[in-house]
Amino acid sequence: MRISAVDVGMRIDNVQVITGESLVCEPGTMTALVGPSGSGKTTFLHCLGLLQRPTQGSVLVDDADTIGWNARRVRRFWRDSAAFVIQDYGIIDDESVAYNVTMTSKFLSSKLAGDLSRCAEALDATGLSGRGTEPASHLSGGEKQRLAIARAIYKQAEVVYVDEPTASLDAANRHRVVELFLERAAAGCTVVVATHDEGMMAACSARHLLGSHGSGVRNEEMAL
Ligand SMILES: Nc1ncnc2c1ncn2[C@@H]1O[C@H](COP(=O)(O)OP(=O)(O)OP(=O)(O)O)[C@@H](O)[C@H]1O
Ligand SMILES: [Mg+2]
Repeated sequence: MRISAVDVGMRIDNVQVITGESLVCEPGTMTALVGPSGSGKTTFLHCLGLLQRPTQGSVLVDDADTIGWNARRVRRFWRDSAAFVIQDYGIIDDESVAYNVTMTSKFLSSKLAGDLSRCAEALDATGLSGRGTEPASHLSGGEKQRLAIARAIYKQAEVVYVDEPTASLDAANRHRVVELFLERAAAGCTVVVATHDEGMMAACSARHLLGSHGSGVRNEEMAL
């Protein structure tokens, strides 16, 4: 799926958080949203993921302008097409690690071997092998971050939105996470990542600098 922003702006409580952001994220690519803390990366990522409705401009999914989508259509997009790794991880502490990956408790007692093996694969890929039955509350900050990534990998969504996925990780795990999202992109996924991480930025095929429209720097010109 192609995700595009056309002149997207967001005004919150009389503060213009982002202004005139335009961007195209193509399937099979990983795009970085970059800029200093407070420049609006999370806000823009949330607009692109339809988590927040911009106060100006449009977000397109393929050729459809989502401005006309009702809540039900937006939920269908989240359910069927999107995965999110949000900045505070979104982990449900009271549930097991495996529940947090699959977001279903039924599968543990069912015969859905495919789900079990995909869950195990996602945990392996994020360095959490064998931790499925532990309560998520037992995990460290960096482990929770990797669990949120395992959930996104497990879902095999067409579009993956990722906010600072390496912020709490050591160098080896940062590298592993960059590789995981590159693999998703190579599989045809559209990956959008808000990041400060140099390694992650370098792995992206394009960078979009928040607030760059005023200086005339365009996304295409930032392409690596
Ligand atoms: N709901 C809100 N109410 C008020 N201000 C907000 C709200 N959401 C975001 N902002 C403001 O918008 C600006 C951009 O925030 P945002 O979280 O998008 O930045 P960011 O680039 O992701 O920063 P960081 O790198 O620290 O994660 C900040 O100044 C923030 O305080
Ligand atoms: Mg942020």
